[in-house]
Amino acid sequence: MEGGSFTGGDIYQRDFLPKDYLATYYSFDSGPDPEYQMLKFNLECLFQTFVQGDLRGDTLIDVGSGPTIYQVLAACESFREIILSDFTNPNREELQRWLRAEPGAHDWTPAVQYACELEGNRDKWPEKEAKLRRKVTQVLKCDANKPNPLEPLELPPADCVLTMLALECACHDLNAYRAALCHLAGLLKAGGRLVTTVTLELDSYLVGERKFSCVRLQQEGIEAAFRDAGFHIERLQHSPQSYSRTCAPNSGVCFIVARKKEAA
Ligand SMILES: C[S@@+](CC[C@H](N)C(=O)[O-])C[C@H]1O[C@@H](n2cnc3c(N)ncnc32)[C@H](O)[C@@H]1O
Repeated sequence: MEGGSFTGGDIYQRDFLPKDYLATYYSFDSGPDPEYQMLKFNLECLFQTFVQGDLRGDTLIDVGSGPTIYQVLAACESFREIILSDFTNPNREELQRWLRAEPGAHDWTPAVQYACELEGNRDKWPEKEAKLRRKVTQVLKCDANKPNPLEPLELPPADCVLTMLALECACHDLNAYRAALCHLAGLLKAGGRLVTTVTLELDSYLVGERKFSCVRLQQEGIEAAFRDAGFHIERLQHSPQSYSRTCAPNSGVCFIVARKKEAA
């Protein structure tokens, strides 16, 4: 979606309702629907990267966390500290509700159980939740469209930046997407990794009744954007997995692990 009709930051702040988003994409009561299959795909890729793979380190920054925590379930096994961030206040409040285990927090149990099952013991999910709550040290405001997305904070360069399903929503066209990748590169050490899942060929998606715009991306454009932002793609896994057509009519997704080159 281009230009004036793009749903930018003000609209996110006002209309992106965390409970509606969670109910559509992360409710676990409707059986094996496409949304749950997508979550499993992401959990499997993240498990392979952070638990089976060699991606470990001190600090991981998740950009555009939304109201979700599934994306850091694997990383909490291999990073000392995790920083979550999102553009909107309601999303950050929703994250805090879960981190403080407050009444009304989203129930992530099925996702945590699945992450634990991948790690070999489904029953250790309460320990994993406790571990993740200990590892998340901050929930920050971010804007991927700013050269320093965590402005006004200047954090030390991180070992890993994670961003799941977020840049395509934050960026109004391919040039903005390419710039946002450079902004995320700026948060990383040389040699650090950017880990992401990107939805392909998605123009918009629904959160409750509200339609949000996306930049329509194709795999070739994404690969070129990574290269030009100074990344070497170490792993690119394409999947035909898509959401329900009524809420997010994408055509597959790409999971990417990319290393920031020394000179980037
Ligand atoms: C589709 S949700 C993805 C949420 C979560 N990462 C997930 O995997 O489900 C898109 C997220 O991008 C965030 N967002 C929108 N504009 C942004 C911006 N300029 N910078 C960073 N995040 C932004 C929204 O607040 C929303 O949480």
